[in-house]
Amino acid sequence: MAKKSVKSKNSGAKAEAEQVGDPEEAKFGETTDSEEIDKAFEEAMKGEAMGDEVAENEEDDVDIDVTATIEASGGHVDVDGLTVKDIPGVGPSVAKKLIDSGFKNIRAIATLPPRTLMQESGIGDKTAEKIVKAAQELCKMEFTTADVVFEKRKNLGRIVMSSNALNEMLGGGVETGAITELVGEFRTGKTQIAHQCCINVQLPVDQGGLGGRALYVDSEGTFRPERLAKMAMAKGMDVKEALKNVIYARAYNSEHQINIMRQARKIIETQNVKLVVIDSLISHFRGEYFGLGSLGPRQQLLNMHLHQIMQLCDTYMIAAIVTNQVQAKPDVFFGNPIVPAGGNIIAHGSTYRVYLRKGKGDTRVAKVIDAPGLPESEAVFKITDKGIEDAET
Ligand code: GTP
Ligand code: MG
Repeated sequence: MAKKSVKSKNSGAKAEAEQVGDPEEAKFGETTDSEEIDKAFEEAMKGEAMGDEVAENEEDDVDIDVTATIEASGGHVDVDGLTVKDIPGVGPSVAKKLIDSGFKNIRAIATLPPRTLMQESGIGDKTAEKIVKAAQELCKMEFTTADVVFEKRKNLGRIVMSSNALNEMLGGGVETGAITELVGEFRTGKTQIAHQCCINVQLPVDQGGLGGRALYVDSEGTFRPERLAKMAMAKGMDVKEALKNVIYARAYNSEHQINIMRQARKIIETQNVKLVVIDSLISHFRGEYFGLGSLGPRQQLLNMHLHQIMQLCDTYMIAAIVTNQVQAKPDVFFGNPIVPAGGNIIAHGSTYRVYLRKGKGDTRVAKVIDAPGLPESEAVFKITDKGIEDAET
């Protein structure tokens, strides 16, 4: 009975969106046309001075109480179907601000620091706090038990990497809900693996994909659609369709890169994106912030950027691949003086860390160096005209 009331509210909101032509739906809708995506992306990229708006007083008086909703639903609210409009007490003006800035999904709001919600949507700080708390209550985000987590993890989606050795090493492929960092010297295959995963994510689930699209953020100008085309052709896919399924953004500086990630939320929500690639994660940050004095601010920004990415992975259960370079550590006298760039912030921020190096001939060696629940192991693969392949085929 009670559950019904939540659902009907939701379906009401949906019906309303259809009737009045919800701007989000209209913007991204079901379209797969690349021009329309470009237009939508450009609009999203305008950013409209996010966070500059001053909160209106009336919004600070918003009274939010979801207890009745939860009780009415028997304790199990179906949050997947709900939007911010379904949070009791959230009026049309607050809902509009949230939706316009990309916060439509309740799970997305529940995992945000209230401060970020405030800055990015322009709503008042007290309202932001109340909304995040309400969303967390609706999502029941307090405590759970290991068996529930176990069941959830069993159903985690993965993207195959076109090499059995690589897949095995990563427990079946690139995991959703996690950040996989590819780190290595130049020409070790980071960009190639990222390209391959943009193709493979499109495969149906029973073929090792997620039946979804990829969002590729390119900070180094090394994105090559013609390489994607070769990889798609090798898999017998419709090449034009495969290229349409990779949404591309060039990041021109670190601030721009962070802003793209802010706008990515809308695109992920509406465009069936299941993989986000950032190639490379750190190069702009390294280029712009150098010298000891700027290390602190750089690391702070990088940390925030990684949290942005992780929050998207968590909320939408998508996979993220980030690439990272290596750097020589002058103070290492014993052991390997070559270490991943970005220090502890990236080491802690990424879930899986895969170190790549050159092997014999056209082979490459991958090693998991930091992964929860996975043994440290190595895999040998090669880069061919078809893409990534096992070294021994
Ligand atoms: P940086 O971005 O410079 O740090 O390197 P990376 O690790 O991203 O290297 P990338 O993934 O670009 O790998 C480059 C390697 O892929 C080169 O050694 C090329 O030989 C190989 N490669 C790229 N495209 C092709 C192709 O079409 N055919 C074949 N056979 N190899 C390719
Ligand atoms: Mg590269």
